[in-house]
Amino acid sequence: MSVLQGKKILLGVSGGIAAYKSALIVRLLVKLGAEVKVVMTPAAKEFVTPLTLATLSKKPVYSTFTDEESDSGVWNSHVELGLWADLMLIAPTTANTLSKASEGACDNLLLAVYLSAKCPVYFAPAMDLDMYKHPSTKNSMDKLESFGNIIIPATHGELASGLSGQGRMAEPEEIVNFIEKHLEHTLPLHDKKVLITAGPTYEAIDPVRFIGNHSTGKMGFEIAKKAAELGAEVFLVTGPTQLSINHPKIKVIPVVSAQQMYAASHQYFPDADIAILSAAVSDYKPQTVAEQKIKKKSDHITIELVPTPDILASLGKIKTKQFLVGFALETCDELENAKGKLQRKNLDLIVLNSLNDKGAGFGTPTNKITLIDKALNVLPFKLKSKAEVAHDIFQFILQKTN
Ligand code: C5P
Repeated sequence: MSVLQGKKILLGVSGGIAAYKSALIVRLLVKLGAEVKVVMTPAAKEFVTPLTLATLSKKPVYSTFTDEESDSGVWNSHVELGLWADLMLIAPTTANTLSKASEGACDNLLLAVYLSAKCPVYFAPAMDLDMYKHPSTKNSMDKLESFGNIIIPATHGELASGLSGQGRMAEPEEIVNFIEKHLEHTLPLHDKKVLITAGPTYEAIDPVRFIGNHSTGKMGFEIAKKAAELGAEVFLVTGPTQLSINHPKIKVIPVVSAQQMYAASHQYFPDADIAILSAAVSDYKPQTVAEQKIKKKSDHITIELVPTPDILASLGKIKTKQFLVGFALETCDELENAKGKLQRKNLDLIVLNSLNDKGAGFGTPTNKITLIDKALNVLPFKLKSKAEVAHDIFQFILQKTN
C-alpha cells in the first residue's frame, strides 16, 4: 500500500511544455489512491486543457480566483484549498513560478494557494538548461528549500529547445516515487522494527482437537496496520485467524501453538525496537498429545495440563533497547491485576481491557482500553474502533520513546 493512499494532494501546474506530463501525474496519484485537486496558472492552460485534468482527477480544476466565465460570483478560496491539502506538488514549476514563489508573490491562484498551504510543498522545476543554471534560478530554489519546501531536481536530457542538458522535468513516475520515498522518511517509525503477536493459540489434544480461545486477532492486526502506516517494518506473529493482511511492510509469521509463538517471537525480538504482545496465548497445554484421535470410551476423561511458556515475561527478562507492551484482559480487580503484570513481566506499558466493558474484548470491532505506564500512570480511553485504539497506543508509545 502506498503512503499516498488516501492523501489529499494539490497539483499545481504552471505554463511550460512539460505541463502535458501533468496528466500522467494525476493518473498515477489517483491510481495510488490519492485524492487530487488541480490548480493551474493561466499560462498552463495553453499546454494542457483543464478538461483533461478535471476528467482524470474527477474534480473541477481551479485557475482563477473567481469563476470568470459563468460570472456567478463564486470565489475559489486559495486559503481553503491550501488548508485542504496534505501535500502540494507544483509540476512543472517554470522559472517564472519558481522565482515568484520564492519571493512570495501571489498574482495568480496557484501562487496564492502555495502561500496559504501549511502542508509540505514539492517543486518539480522544468526549463531550458541555461535558465536552470542561472544564478537567480539557483537562488530561488535555495530560498524555497530554506523555507522547508522540497525541490525535485530536473534531469539531464533533450529539451524542447533542441538543446541538451539539465532542465527536463523529472518523469511522472520519478516524481511520484520521489514523494513516496520522501514521505516514508518523514514517518515517525520509518527506521523502526515492530514485533506484534496476535490471535489465539491452539494447543493440540490429539490430531483433531485442541484447546483454544475466542480471540479473532482483530486488535493485533489493527496494531500491525497502524505500525506499518507509521513507517515501521512489522513482524506479525499470529495464531490461527480468519484475518489476512497484505502490506509490503508487514511480514506475517503464522503459528499455531504457544511454543511456536514463543520461538517466532524470540527470533524477531532481538532486532525489534518495539514489541506489542496482544495475542491471547493459551496458559496451559495438554501434557501429552495423543497420536491418534481419542476414542469415546468412558463417561469421564481427564486431560493433564501443563503451563505454556509465558512469552511476554520471557521477553521482559531479556529486553535491552526494546519498548515492551503487554495486554491484560481482566474480569475483576482490573487495575491492580494489570499493574501487577506490568511490574512482574518488566513491561514499559500495559494495555488493559476489561470483559466487563460493553463493546470491549473478543471479536468486537471496538475496544475500551486503559493504558498504564512504568511509572503506573493510568490513562483511560473511551470505547473506540480497534483502528482508533491502535492509533492511541502508538501515540502513547511515540510520546514515551521520543
Ligand atoms: O498473564 P496474562 O496471560 O493475563 O498476560 C497477558 C499478556 O501476556 C498479553 O500481552 C499476552 O499476549 C501475554 N502472554 C504471553 N504468553 C503467555 C501468556 C500471555 O505472551 N503464555
